[in-house]
Order: sequence, then C-alpha cells, then structure tokens
Amino acid sequence: MAADSSQKWILMTTAQTPTNIAVIKYWGKRDEALILAVNDSISVTLDPQHLCTTTTVAVSPMFQSDRMWLNGKEISLSGGRYQNCLREIRSRASKIEDEKKGIKITKKDWEKLHVHIASYNNFPTAAGLASSAAGFACLVFSLAKLMNVQEDQGKLSAIARQGSGSACRSLYGGFVKWVMGNEENGSDSIAVQLQDEKHWDELVIIIAVVSSRQKETSSTSGMRDSVETSLLLQHRAKEVVPKRIIEMEEAIKNRDFPSFARLTCADSNQFHAVCLDTSPPIFYMNDTSHRIISCVEKWNRSEGTPQVAYTFDAGPNAVLIARDRKVAANLLQRLLYYFPPHSDTDLNSYVIGDKSILGDVGVEEMKDVEALPPPPETKDQIPAQKQRGAVSYFICTRPGKGPVLLSDESQALLNPESGLPK
Ligand code: DP6
Repeated sequence: MAADSSQKWILMTTAQTPTNIAVIKYWGKRDEALILAVNDSISVTLDPQHLCTTTTVAVSPMFQSDRMWLNGKEISLSGGRYQNCLREIRSRASKIEDEKKGIKITKKDWEKLHVHIASYNNFPTAAGLASSAAGFACLVFSLAKLMNVQEDQGKLSAIARQGSGSACRSLYGGFVKWVMGNEENGSDSIAVQLQDEKHWDELVIIIAVVSSRQKETSSTSGMRDSVETSLLLQHRAKEVVPKRIIEMEEAIKNRDFPSFARLTCADSNQFHAVCLDTSPPIFYMNDTSHRIISCVEKWNRSEGTPQVAYTFDAGPNAVLIARDRKVAANLLQRLLYYFPPHSDTDLNSYVIGDKSILGDVGVEEMKDVEALPPPPETKDQIPAQKQRGAVSYFICTRPGKGPVLLSDESQALLNPESGLPK
C-alpha cells in the first residue's frame, strides 16, 4: 500500500554540512534565477566542528504542509530559493520501502508528501559568517538522503547553488572549485573537489569576528549592483579571474603557500575594489578590517615571505589563513596584542574553536593577554595603538571535511513522534 494520511509513521534524516570561505571570490551573476556566476571561484571548506549547519528533515503522511525552523524559530519556505531547491530534489526522489517500520513511499507519493525541516548553526548567525552556504548545502544534502535521490554530489551541488551560489562549494571538504559552466540551464555550473582536507592539513585558520554596528548590504543585492555598474567587475571576470584560477589550483596542488597567500589577498582586495567601483559604492570592510590587513602585510614583509593570507567576504570579518600552527600562534599573539578584549571579557569566550593554540601562545588567562610584548616588526616605530573591543571574538579552525549523515537519533533536531522541533 502506498503512503496515505491515515498512517502515523515519520521518516527522518539528519546531516551536518560545513561552511566555506572563498579564496577566489564569486561576485556577480549572469543568471539571477538559476544563480549562475560570471566567473569560477575557489574555496576552502572550514572544519564543521567549529562552523557548521545541522539539519534534520522529516517526512510523514501526517504533515499538512512543508515547514521549516531555523535556530528554533519558524521561517517561511515561500521564497523562490527554497522552492527551487525543494522542487529540484522532489523531482529526483525515488521509492523507499522499509518493511520493519511499515513504510512504503512510491516515486509518485513524494509529490504529495510534506516535509518538516529544522536547521541549526553552531555559530552565531548574526556574526555575518556565511550561514547561507552551509544552510542550503545541508538542506539539499539531507533532503536528497531522505528522498533517496540517486544523484552524485556534483548534481546535488547544482541544486544547492540555486539556494545560494556559495552553497554549492559546501558539498565537499578541502579545496573546492565552483565551475561557472556554459549551459543556459545551469546543468554544468557545479562544484568539484580540487583536493581533500588532508592534502594541506598544516594550514590553520583564524577568523576575527569584527564588531560592527553597520547594517551590511546583502551579497545578493550588492553583486547585482556591481554587475550593473562596475566596469572593473567585467574586467575581473574576463581577464583576471581565469588566470588566477589556474594559478590558485597550481598553488593548492603544490602546497605553495607564498603563491596561495599572494593570490588570496589579491583576490580579496580586488573583490572589495569592485565593491568600491559599484554605484553607489559598497563598503564591507571597516577600520578594524583595514588595520588587520596592515598588520598582516607588515609582518609578511618583515619575514620576507608570506606567513599569513587574509580574505574578507561581504562584511568586516577577517579570515586569516596561517601556513602552519607555529605561525598561527604568532598570529594570534599579534591579534591579541592589537585587539585586546574589553576588561570584563572571559578569555574562554574571546577565543573559541580550537583553543589549544592559546597554549602555544603561552596565554592562559586575561592577565597574560595584557602582558603580551609588542610584535618585533613594530620595534622601530611608535607602538601601534591597541584597539580594545574592536574584535568581538576569534574562532580558531582549519580546513575540514564535507557533509556527513548523523545516524545517532539523539542528534536529530525534530521529535521522532511529533515531527516538531525538540
Ligand atoms: C563575497 O553565495 O551569499 O561570499 O548567490 O546571491 O546567495 P547568493 O550570494 P552568496 O555570495 C557570496 C559572495 C562572497 C564570495 C564567495 O563566497 O565566493
């Protein structure tokens, strides 16, 4: 018997998906509805232990409509991006039979059955970290598993792309390229894994979540304005990025940190130059962002070869990639020196993620932060001004793995009896 509304079963799947940071940026669409980019982009997937989305999806003949809860609050699924992802996944659903549980769902049933979705970010959504990338990737990945979709990860990435462009790159761990593709229907605009997360595992990533009072322009509307008004964007997409993509792939393959850092910083700076070249101009970075750039540039120059790469998305937060753990400890020492927290802050909440780097810095409590010596590259200059409170907190992380299924039911976000958030 096919599924009918007198049946009481609930079928559930839970998955966890990482976020990613672009080192060659996606900025500009050639098709707004399908979300097709004007250039290829490359990203590093961040360790889901520190930054990820967990999503539980459930299906039941008892559900009256499709519903979604984000961080515990019900949100509307009526937006085109959600609808596109749901439609694309549903149309690829295949039959499921679980005799033990008495569940039988035919391909036809999936058109009528409703889903409940609960999603949770393990990092503050308000921090301006790419939550939509992990969110849409997790939605598509978990629905595909629930609905027994027999497509490879590349095909799934093309569906996640229709939720948010950068989401397609979160379907893989390690280093990922979003190939812009040529087809009008977007079928070849997919993510591919360049290298897995073990390939270059010395890298350490420190994110400075910068305090900001400013309401930022969304990526979606910002890039629309750039496409319409920035000549630099046209030049970047046609002339600059294609060459950079080749060089970046080579740098990643060879674990060539100086080239990787040079390309990452240059591409972040060009992306923000495109934003300035937009009418009206868009300012994503603030004074603190600029200070962090100066600090890294000065240090890299004093070392003779790059130790740290910086990159900034559509907001003031700095993502800093250190060549190894020793450099990361030196970096964190400098950051804590220049950007100490307000006096009432607990060190435990000021540095989160992989806190073990604090041990390498030799900092155990707040008084150790206050006692840090000025970085040697400032020795001939008037000591640089400390900016207390300019950074909200730091997250220490590393390159990480792609989506995974969580089979332990205790990790599910929906109640297995009611299908409502726990
Ligand atoms: C600056 O993927 O958020 O982070 O496709 O409109 O949802 P939509 O935009 P989104 O843009 C991300 C822009 C970026 C660069 C990047 O991640 O490549």
